[in-house]
Amino acid sequence: MHESESKPRTSRMHADGRLSFRRRVPEVDDPDLPLVLGGEDPPGLRELLPSEALDLEVEIEVGPGKGTFLLAATEARPEAFVLGIEASASYAKYAAEKLKQSGRRNGLLLVDNAKAFLKGQVPAGALRRLHVYFPDPWPKRRHRKRRFFTEEMPEVVHDALAADGWLLVATDNAALAGEITRVLGSSPLLVRDEAEEARLRAGPPGHGFSPTSFERKYRAEGRIIRQYAFRRRDA
Ligand SMILES: C[S@@+](CC[C@H](N)C(=O)[O-])C[C@H]1O[C@@H](n2cnc3c(N)ncnc32)[C@H](O)[C@@H]1O
Repeated sequence: MHESESKPRTSRMHADGRLSFRRRVPEVDDPDLPLVLGGEDPPGLRELLPSEALDLEVEIEVGPGKGTFLLAATEARPEAFVLGIEASASYAKYAAEKLKQSGRRNGLLLVDNAKAFLKGQVPAGALRRLHVYFPDPWPKRRHRKRRFFTEEMPEVVHDALAADGWLLVATDNAALAGEITRVLGSSPLLVRDEAEEARLRAGPPGHGFSPTSFERKYRAEGRIIRQYAFRRRDA
Protein backbone atom coordinates (compact mmCIF):
# COMPACT_ATOMS: atom_id res chain seq x y z
CA MET A 1 0.00 0.00 0.00
CA HIS A 2 1.31 3.47 -0.85
CA GLU A 3 1.70 5.89 2.06
CA SER A 4 -0.99 8.17 0.65
CA GLU A 5 -3.46 5.27 0.59
CA SER A 6 -3.06 4.65 4.32
CA LYS A 7 -3.95 8.25 5.28
CA PRO A 8 -7.37 8.83 6.84
CA ARG A 9 -10.00 10.04 4.37
CA THR A 10 -10.89 13.05 6.47
CA SER A 11 -8.52 15.85 7.32
CA ARG A 12 -8.84 19.18 9.07
CA MET A 13 -9.98 20.97 5.93
CA HIS A 14 -12.47 18.17 5.37
CA ALA A 15 -14.09 18.50 8.81
CA ASP A 16 -17.81 19.32 8.41
CA GLY A 17 -17.66 18.66 4.69
CA ARG A 18 -14.87 18.64 2.17
CA LEU A 19 -13.02 21.89 1.56
CA SER A 20 -10.13 20.18 -0.20
CA PHE A 21 -10.30 22.48 -3.21
CA ARG A 22 -8.98 25.23 -0.96
CA ARG A 23 -5.81 23.46 0.03
CA ARG A 24 -3.45 24.96 -2.57
CA VAL A 25 -1.06 26.75 -0.21
CA PRO A 26 1.06 29.64 -1.52
CA GLU A 27 4.73 30.10 -0.67
CA VAL A 28 5.17 32.30 2.38
CA ASP A 29 8.78 33.44 2.54
CA ASP A 30 8.24 36.63 4.60
CA PRO A 31 8.62 35.95 8.35
CA ASP A 32 7.04 39.36 9.12
CA LEU A 33 3.84 38.59 7.25
CA PRO A 34 0.97 38.34 9.80
CA LEU A 35 -0.05 34.95 8.43
CA VAL A 36 -0.06 31.46 9.94
CA LEU A 37 -0.65 28.39 7.78
CA GLY A 38 -2.65 26.16 10.09
CA GLY A 39 -2.06 22.82 8.38
CA GLU A 40 -3.39 19.66 10.02
CA ASP A 41 -2.43 20.67 13.57
CA PRO A 42 -2.84 24.44 13.97
CA PRO A 43 -1.85 26.23 17.17
CA GLY A 44 -4.54 27.21 19.67
CA LEU A 45 -5.82 30.76 20.04
CA ARG A 46 -3.58 31.54 23.02
CA GLU A 47 -0.45 30.41 21.15
CA LEU A 48 -1.38 32.54 18.14
CA LEU A 49 -1.85 35.78 20.06
CA PRO A 50 1.23 38.00 20.42
CA SER A 51 2.03 39.29 23.91
CA GLU A 52 0.69 42.77 22.95
CA ALA A 53 -2.74 41.17 22.44
CA LEU A 54 -3.07 40.01 26.04
CA ASP A 55 -4.60 43.36 27.07
CA LEU A 56 -6.81 43.63 23.96
CA GLU A 57 -10.34 42.45 23.21
CA VAL A 58 -9.96 39.30 21.14
CA GLU A 59 -12.19 38.84 18.10
CA ILE A 60 -12.39 36.27 15.31
CA GLU A 61 -13.61 36.94 11.80
CA VAL A 62 -14.71 33.79 9.97
CA GLY A 63 -13.92 33.82 6.23
CA PRO A 64 -12.55 37.37 5.92
CA GLY A 65 -11.86 36.86 2.19
CA LYS A 66 -9.63 39.72 1.04
CA GLY A 67 -9.71 41.22 4.53
CA THR A 68 -11.75 44.40 3.98
CA PHE A 69 -13.55 44.19 7.34
CA LEU A 70 -10.51 42.99 9.25
CA LEU A 71 -8.46 45.90 7.89
CA ALA A 72 -11.19 48.40 8.85
CA ALA A 73 -11.67 46.86 12.30
CA THR A 74 -7.97 46.90 13.21
CA GLU A 75 -7.86 50.58 12.19
CA ALA A 76 -11.11 51.68 13.84
CA ARG A 77 -10.52 49.81 17.11
CA PRO A 78 -6.91 49.63 18.30
CA GLU A 79 -8.29 48.11 21.51
CA ALA A 80 -9.23 44.96 19.54
CA PHE A 81 -7.08 42.11 18.21
CA VAL A 82 -8.76 40.52 15.18
CA LEU A 83 -7.86 37.00 14.06
CA GLY A 84 -9.16 36.26 10.57
CA ILE A 85 -9.60 32.54 9.86
CA GLU A 86 -9.78 31.94 6.14
CA ALA A 87 -10.01 28.61 4.31
CA SER A 88 -8.51 30.04 1.13
CA ALA A 89 -4.75 30.41 1.55
CA SER A 90 -4.45 32.85 -1.34
CA TYR A 91 -7.12 35.19 0.14
CA ALA A 92 -5.49 34.93 3.57
CA LYS A 93 -2.11 35.82 2.10
CA TYR A 94 -3.60 38.78 0.24
CA ALA A 95 -5.25 40.08 3.43
CA ALA A 96 -2.06 39.54 5.45
CA GLU A 97 -0.07 41.58 2.92
CA LYS A 98 -2.56 44.45 3.24
CA LEU A 99 -2.40 44.24 7.04
CA LYS A 100 1.40 44.32 6.98
CA GLN A 101 1.33 47.35 4.66
CA SER A 102 -0.97 49.14 7.14
CA GLY A 103 1.69 48.85 9.84
CA ARG A 104 -0.88 47.73 12.40
CA ARG A 105 -0.06 44.82 14.65
CA ASN A 106 -3.50 44.11 16.13
CA GLY A 107 -4.51 41.49 13.58
CA LEU A 108 -3.47 38.13 12.16
CA LEU A 109 -4.58 35.77 9.39
CA LEU A 110 -4.81 32.03 9.93
CA VAL A 111 -5.40 29.55 7.11
CA ASP A 112 -7.79 27.02 8.59
CA ASN A 113 -11.34 25.70 8.72
CA ALA A 114 -12.94 28.20 11.12
CA LYS A 115 -15.55 25.71 12.35
CA ALA A 116 -12.87 23.22 13.36
CA PHE A 117 -10.84 26.01 14.99
CA LEU A 118 -13.78 27.31 17.03
CA LYS A 119 -14.65 23.81 18.19
CA GLY A 120 -11.17 22.79 19.24
CA GLN A 121 -8.80 25.71 19.61
CA VAL A 122 -10.66 28.54 21.39
CA PRO A 123 -10.71 28.58 25.20
CA ALA A 124 -14.13 29.10 26.81
CA GLY A 125 -15.15 32.75 27.07
CA ALA A 126 -12.19 34.02 25.01
CA LEU A 127 -13.97 36.12 22.39
CA ARG A 128 -15.48 39.58 22.64
CA ARG A 129 -16.83 39.39 19.10
CA LEU A 130 -17.26 36.73 16.44
CA HIS A 131 -17.87 38.14 12.96
CA VAL A 132 -19.37 35.96 10.19
CA TYR A 133 -20.04 38.03 7.07
CA PHE A 134 -21.49 36.48 3.91
CA PRO A 135 -20.76 32.85 4.75
CA ASP A 136 -20.87 30.60 1.69
CA PRO A 137 -24.49 29.43 1.22
CA TRP A 138 -23.67 25.93 -0.11
CA PRO A 139 -27.10 25.59 -1.76
CA LYS A 140 -26.81 21.92 -2.77
CA ARG A 141 -28.34 19.41 -0.36
CA ARG A 142 -25.22 17.24 -0.30
CA HIS A 143 -23.10 20.27 0.72
CA ARG A 144 -25.26 21.29 3.71
CA LYS A 145 -22.69 20.14 6.26
CA ARG A 146 -20.30 22.76 4.90
CA ARG A 147 -22.60 25.63 5.98
CA PHE A 148 -21.29 27.57 8.96
CA PHE A 149 -24.45 27.71 11.11
CA THR A 150 -25.25 24.04 11.50
CA GLU A 151 -27.21 22.75 14.51
CA GLU A 152 -24.20 22.35 16.82
CA MET A 153 -22.95 25.91 16.31
CA PRO A 154 -25.05 27.81 18.94
CA GLU A 155 -23.29 25.84 21.67
CA VAL A 156 -19.88 26.27 20.03
CA VAL A 157 -20.47 30.03 19.70
CA HIS A 158 -21.86 30.35 23.23
CA ASP A 159 -18.82 28.61 24.70
CA ALA A 160 -16.34 30.74 22.73
CA LEU A 161 -17.95 34.11 23.61
CA ALA A 162 -17.18 36.11 26.72
CA ALA A 163 -20.15 36.92 28.98
CA ASP A 164 -20.44 40.30 27.22
CA GLY A 165 -19.55 38.86 23.82
CA TRP A 166 -21.34 39.28 20.49
CA LEU A 167 -21.91 37.18 17.40
CA LEU A 168 -22.38 39.42 14.34
CA VAL A 169 -23.66 37.95 11.07
CA ALA A 170 -24.50 39.31 7.62
CA THR A 171 -25.91 37.64 4.52
CA ASP A 172 -27.66 38.60 1.29
CA ASN A 173 -29.20 35.13 0.92
CA ALA A 174 -32.84 35.06 2.10
CA ALA A 175 -33.00 31.27 2.49
CA LEU A 176 -29.75 31.19 4.42
CA ALA A 177 -30.92 34.11 6.58
CA GLY A 178 -34.02 32.09 7.46
CA GLU A 179 -31.93 29.10 8.41
CA ILE A 180 -29.49 31.22 10.45
CA THR A 181 -32.26 32.93 12.43
CA ARG A 182 -33.95 29.59 13.01
CA VAL A 183 -30.80 27.82 14.23
CA LEU A 184 -29.52 30.73 16.35
CA GLY A 185 -32.89 32.17 17.37
CA SER A 186 -34.28 28.86 18.63
CA SER A 187 -31.27 28.25 20.85
CA PRO A 188 -31.61 29.03 24.58
CA LEU A 189 -27.89 29.91 24.54
CA LEU A 190 -28.07 33.02 22.34
CA VAL A 191 -30.40 36.00 22.13
CA ARG A 192 -30.89 38.37 19.22
CA ASP A 193 -30.54 42.08 20.02
CA GLU A 194 -32.13 44.38 17.46
CA ALA A 195 -31.03 47.52 19.36
CA GLU A 196 -27.40 46.45 18.91
CA GLU A 197 -28.04 45.78 15.22
CA ALA A 198 -29.40 49.33 14.80
CA ARG A 199 -26.50 50.79 16.79
CA LEU A 200 -23.92 49.04 14.64
CA ARG A 201 -25.66 49.94 11.36
CA ALA A 202 -25.62 53.61 12.37
CA GLY A 203 -22.05 53.45 13.63
CA PRO A 204 -18.73 54.04 11.91
CA PRO A 205 -17.05 51.38 9.72
CA GLY A 206 -15.06 48.62 11.38
CA HIS A 207 -17.23 48.31 14.49
CA GLY A 208 -19.44 45.52 13.16
CA PHE A 209 -21.16 44.35 9.93
CA SER A 210 -19.43 46.79 7.61
CA PRO A 211 -17.45 47.21 5.38
CA THR A 212 -16.86 43.92 3.55
CA SER A 213 -16.07 43.26 -0.12
CA PHE A 214 -19.21 41.17 -0.64
CA GLU A 215 -21.34 43.77 1.10
CA ARG A 216 -20.09 46.45 -1.35
CA LYS A 217 -20.69 44.18 -4.34
CA TYR A 218 -24.19 43.15 -3.26
CA ARG A 219 -25.28 46.67 -2.28
CA ALA A 220 -24.17 47.86 -5.74
CA GLU A 221 -26.40 45.13 -7.21
CA GLY A 222 -29.32 46.37 -5.08
CA ARG A 223 -29.59 43.19 -3.01
CA ILE A 224 -31.13 43.23 0.46
CA ILE A 225 -28.50 42.67 3.15
CA ARG A 226 -29.59 41.08 6.41
CA GLN A 227 -27.50 41.76 9.51
CA TYR A 228 -27.94 40.10 12.91
CA ALA A 229 -26.41 40.62 16.35
CA PHE A 230 -26.70 37.83 18.91
CA ARG A 231 -25.38 38.00 22.43
CA ARG A 232 -24.62 35.13 24.70
CA ARG A 233 -27.42 34.22 27.06
CA ASP A 234 -26.47 32.83 30.44
CA ALA A 235 -28.67 30.79 32.71
C1 LIG B 1 -18.61 34.72 0.26
S1 LIG B 1 -16.99 34.94 0.87
C2 LIG B 1 -17.18 36.35 1.97
C3 LIG B 1 -15.85 37.06 2.23
C4 LIG B 1 -15.95 38.25 3.19
N1 LIG B 1 -16.47 37.85 4.48
C5 LIG B 1 -16.80 39.35 2.62
O1 LIG B 1 -17.88 39.61 3.16
O2 LIG B 1 -16.36 39.98 1.66
C6 LIG B 1 -16.85 33.58 2.01
C7 LIG B 1 -15.44 33.39 2.52
O3 LIG B 1 -15.45 32.42 3.55
C8 LIG B 1 -14.36 31.52 3.35
N2 LIG B 1 -14.75 30.25 4.01
C9 LIG B 1 -15.72 29.38 3.63
N3 LIG B 1 -15.81 28.36 4.51
C10 LIG B 1 -14.88 28.60 5.48
C11 LIG B 1 -14.48 27.92 6.67
N4 LIG B 1 -15.09 26.79 7.05
N5 LIG B 1 -13.48 28.45 7.39
C12 LIG B 1 -12.88 29.60 7.02
N6 LIG B 1 -13.22 30.29 5.91
C13 LIG B 1 -14.20 29.80 5.15
C14 LIG B 1 -14.22 31.45 1.85
O4 LIG B 1 -12.93 31.01 1.46
C15 LIG B 1 -14.47 32.90 1.46
O5 LIG B 1 -13.31 33.68 1.48
